[in-house]
Amino acid sequence: MKTLSRLVQTGLTGTIRVPGDKSISHRAVMFGSIAHGKTMVDGFLPGEDCLSTIDCFRKLGVEIRQENDHVVINGNGIEGLREPKDILDVGNSGTTCRLLLGVLANTPFHSCVIGDDSIAKRPMNRVTGPLREMGTKIDGRDTGNYTPISIRGGSLKAIDYVSPVGSAQVKSAVLLAGLQADGTTTLTEPHHSRDHTERMLRAFGCEVVVNDLTVSLKGGQSLTATHIEVPGDISSAAFYLVAGAIVPNSDLTIEKVGINPTRTGIVDVLKEMGAEVTVTNQQTETSEPFADVHIKTSSLEGIEISGDLIPRLIDEIPIIALAATQAKGTTVIKDAAELKVKETNRIDTVVNELKKLGAQIEATEDGMIIHGKADLVGTTVDSHGDHRIGMMLAIASCLADGETVIQNSEAVHVSYPAFFEQLEQLRK
Ligand code: S3P
Repeated sequence: MKTLSRLVQTGLTGTIRVPGDKSISHRAVMFGSIAHGKTMVDGFLPGEDCLSTIDCFRKLGVEIRQENDHVVINGNGIEGLREPKDILDVGNSGTTCRLLLGVLANTPFHSCVIGDDSIAKRPMNRVTGPLREMGTKIDGRDTGNYTPISIRGGSLKAIDYVSPVGSAQVKSAVLLAGLQADGTTTLTEPHHSRDHTERMLRAFGCEVVVNDLTVSLKGGQSLTATHIEVPGDISSAAFYLVAGAIVPNSDLTIEKVGINPTRTGIVDVLKEMGAEVTVTNQQTETSEPFADVHIKTSSLEGIEISGDLIPRLIDEIPIIALAATQAKGTTVIKDAAELKVKETNRIDTVVNELKKLGAQIEATEDGMIIHGKADLVGTTVDSHGDHRIGMMLAIASCLADGETVIQNSEAVHVSYPAFFEQLEQLRK
């Protein structure tokens, strides 16, 4: 539990860094674990989710040394993985669960995958379906839709898969299975999801062909160890970008943030709402671009957020909803039904928790409608164990009159272990 009070005269000012990108950190550990040789990772996110990935691959026999944001992985190829003696526990991490199933799709042994109460509610048939089609023996609760899931690799054949959901986790699981299949695997998605897997497979020496919404790769390619530099997570930076825009007297620079175009919807939305946000010092040292992002207190206006923009900011919708409470006019978020199957049902948790603070916000079937500008008032709110809801509520507390008590605040450790300490320092 955390109790936070409103920031009155002092805004949030300074130059900060945010921890490494969660999606890229997961992939660096996984791909390093199935590559040949020693992979070094710098800028790794030592949050609970990515530590779950390390734990699972250690149980699969991979030697992994991790110290803060530095990780060294001694990979012996995918054929070097060994039957785990214990259950593989993905904790709260959907990315670990779904990508791991892709890795295990062809392994000649049995594994059992479980996670926490939130994972147990998240649909896995989007991954178990295509993997079964490829030849994996896979079962689980509700015929393989929910954890616990048990999996034994089959001899895989390549498929041409048209995914009904635009999901980087589905795309990545199918591509990881495709690496181990006979023939060329092709996946077509309904819209562009984040492309970290494609970029990183290339960094590990694989050939991946991308043609608009279709990705394909030949089976039998092996990965060669490399050095991965993980940029700051734009999904973590998003909390400070919105804080910088809505907390009076703020002026913040966030250095070395990943600006992969499949992830920068938050910057586009803030600009469209009228925020003074600038992106400078753009660099691409490894396969992912990064830059410094600067923001200062701005007056915002409500906008519509929908369509192809949604996958580029899906994880940022909780904090965008808070920004919308402070914007003049109405913000409509639609085409975002995927929010219902994230760490919590984020349509419900965002709407219910912001309502408690006095926001005028209503849920719709595929998003929410927010009327601004609302005066927020502190009260007791709850993260419901969802890291992004916890951090959004902490930023809301900077504006809310009086004190805001956040229950289950420790959920932030999933993606941002030092979040509250850093916010405290900025508040001084
Ligand atoms: C992720 C993909 C996204 C995102 C999640 C992380 C990834 O989910 O919401 O937090 O690392 O591949 P989808 O698979 O639904 O796109």
